[in-house]
Amino acid sequence: MAQDVQQREQWGSKLGFILAAAGSAVGLGNIWRFPYLTGQHGGAAFVCVYVAIVFLIGFSVMVAEMAIGRKAQLNAVGAFQKVKGGAWPLVGWMGVLAGFLILSYYSVIGGWTIKYFFWSFTGLMGQAGAGKAGDVFGGFVTNTPEVIAYHAVFMAMTIWIVYKGVGEGIEKYCKIMMPALFVILIILIIRSVTLEGAGKGIEFYVKPDFSKLTGKAVGAALGQAFFSLSLGMGCMLTYGSYVDKRTPLPSSAIQVCVIDTSVAILAGFAIFPAVFAFGVEAGAGPGLTFVTLPSVFAKMPGSSIWSALFFLLLFFAAITSAISLLEVVSAYFIDSGWTRPRAALVMGILMFLLGIPSAMSLAGAPKIAGKDFLDAMDFIASNVLLPLGGVFIALFVGWVWTAEARKEVSNEGTYTFGLMEVWIWICKILAPLAILYIFITGLKW
Ligand code: TRP
Repeated sequence: MAQDVQQREQWGSKLGFILAAAGSAVGLGNIWRFPYLTGQHGGAAFVCVYVAIVFLIGFSVMVAEMAIGRKAQLNAVGAFQKVKGGAWPLVGWMGVLAGFLILSYYSVIGGWTIKYFFWSFTGLMGQAGAGKAGDVFGGFVTNTPEVIAYHAVFMAMTIWIVYKGVGEGIEKYCKIMMPALFVILIILIIRSVTLEGAGKGIEFYVKPDFSKLTGKAVGAALGQAFFSLSLGMGCMLTYGSYVDKRTPLPSSAIQVCVIDTSVAILAGFAIFPAVFAFGVEAGAGPGLTFVTLPSVFAKMPGSSIWSALFFLLLFFAAITSAISLLEVVSAYFIDSGWTRPRAALVMGILMFLLGIPSAMSLAGAPKIAGKDFLDAMDFIASNVLLPLGGVFIALFVGWVWTAEARKEVSNEGTYTFGLMEVWIWICKILAPLAILYIFITGLKW
């Protein structure tokens, strides 16, 4: 109703925008998935390919998203409707759906980080020190009421921040949590690399092994880059819609890419030296984070503190990403006339409910075609919806909306983007082909 007269919310500053976007990008993907993928796919060789992909393709799609969002001053669906119409809003719809699916299970894992933070002080270290980290993890994740309760707490905090709005909620909390995350990460790295025997872990992590750099590794790097930079579902588009017209989009996007990639690479330096110093077998994914690491921390003097610091880091990373997922979905409803509190609350509760089967997935909830519910949600969103969204966003800017995109990215001619032609070419050709490749190779259920 008051939609037309109401001014769209905006970021308070360029720094606030960058930290919010970096908060979205830096998430569970950086801390548990990237280091593990790197160790598995050839260390420094993989990092080189990953960095190239981030700055060529990831950066280009990010600028494309931000440009569409800022031009339209609308959510993912509304933006495509406004700037082009036709079938294009379907791209936005896929994004809203992906946000819905991702947050439903992301919040379950976010809940685990809260549990582990407190548990660090109340018994986890004793159990992990006795070699029972795997057993107690298994005990926790099959205790469905407890897992759901923590999932609820995590989702409630996410709703609260989105409910408070763009400046007073998202920006404010990201401005506190992102620097805190960085400080904690540096402290953990210093602790880790100064342990005796840390060298072996550093070697495992960075030693380039080009023979492991297969087509599969390149596909993994592409998929990881996409998920890690929060691309393909209109997240950067929605955040871009709150940017003022003077902020240069390319330099903002570069900064977000640099922060995201640095945190991913640095996380490995916090994890592997410690894992190898204590001769613990490096697990993968959730296992690495919730089983291997508690066993490692338990062996350090002051174990509770190190463990709590790490899970606090993981919590900050997770919640600043979670709010961006809820914001994408809420923004659609807000632009359709709902109030912000209503959109955040109703959508957050629906995602919480959809997350319940994921919360039960390790306790034997029904599977979907042989996959755990949580894995199935992740597969549909990350392997299908995000790459498809990315292809269409790149094609849209490269072929359909090119002249307008140039105008928007150059701030109506007042800002010179030196790589404009390269950017357009990547959106036209390289990004769609590369993403299509991830999509096709990633389609194995
Ligand atoms: N980038 C986050 C991570 O690395 C997850 C995330 C947040 C995301 N928003 C997104 C992924 C949007 C894809 C799209 O964990």
